[in-house]
Amino acid sequence: MTRESADGTLSHVNGCDIRPAAPEDLPALVRSLGQEEYFTVSLKRQDAGHGFLLVAWQRGVAVGDVYVWLAPAEEPELRTHLRGVALITHLEVVPRLRNLGIGTKLLRAAEDSLYAAGRKRVALGVRLDNDDAQRLYKRQGYEEWPHGEVATTAVVYHADGSREVLPEVCRIMVRRLEEDRPGRWGTS
Ligand SMILES: CC(C)(COP(=O)(O)OP(=O)(O)OC[C@H]1O[C@@H](n2cnc3c(N)ncnc32)[C@H](O)[C@@H]1OP(=O)(O)O)[C@@H](O)C(=O)NCCC(=O)NCCS
Repeated sequence: MTRESADGTLSHVNGCDIRPAAPEDLPALVRSLGQEEYFTVSLKRQDAGHGFLLVAWQRGVAVGDVYVWLAPAEEPELRTHLRGVALITHLEVVPRLRNLGIGTKLLRAAEDSLYAAGRKRVALGVRLDNDDAQRLYKRQGYEEWPHGEVATTAVVYHADGSREVLPEVCRIMVRRLEEDRPGRWGTS
């Protein structure tokens, strides 16, 4: 199980530390993961208490991240059916270090933080064609909710700094946080 140490490190795996991002991490985040506007906004949201950004580091290089959205969801369906449930968003690992367990560790670190804060459930949206991510979430105990797919938008950040807002349809998946192992979709 992940534990928080004195320096704020949430977990250590395969030479990779996971810890909450700080404003001064912005240049390092942008250096390896790009998306300057996204990380700038996420750090501001974190500072305002609307969520938290966890970053996986390997020898001082940011190699992955996940943002936990604690504010009301943007999608009305989520606000109706998952009122007050935190959302896992923007889970990503740099392409060269995928399939080594870093994505799973980031996900579990986010879940552990939510569980420690007394949260009972966590949810996320995954694009219908994102089979890799869906496999990962199912393995971790996420189950599709019974309210159907949700039309939403994705912001794509391009290398030249521009961004594009694209429509996308997601499956909503939910996990109970009572146990530190695959759980079941529940009603509480
Ligand atoms: C989805 C994503 C975050 C997963 O990150 P990751 O670090 O590759 O995830 P993991 O390594 O934990 O798991 C991926 C696979 O590697 C396997 N794996 C994990 N550790 C391993 C190891 N030490 N040796 C061999 N395989 C391993 C896992 O079992 C899993 O197998 P699967 O593909 O059969 O399901 C990553 O693919 C990504 O950044 N994708 C683009 C962004 C994205 O789509 N994000 C999700 C949005 S909803």
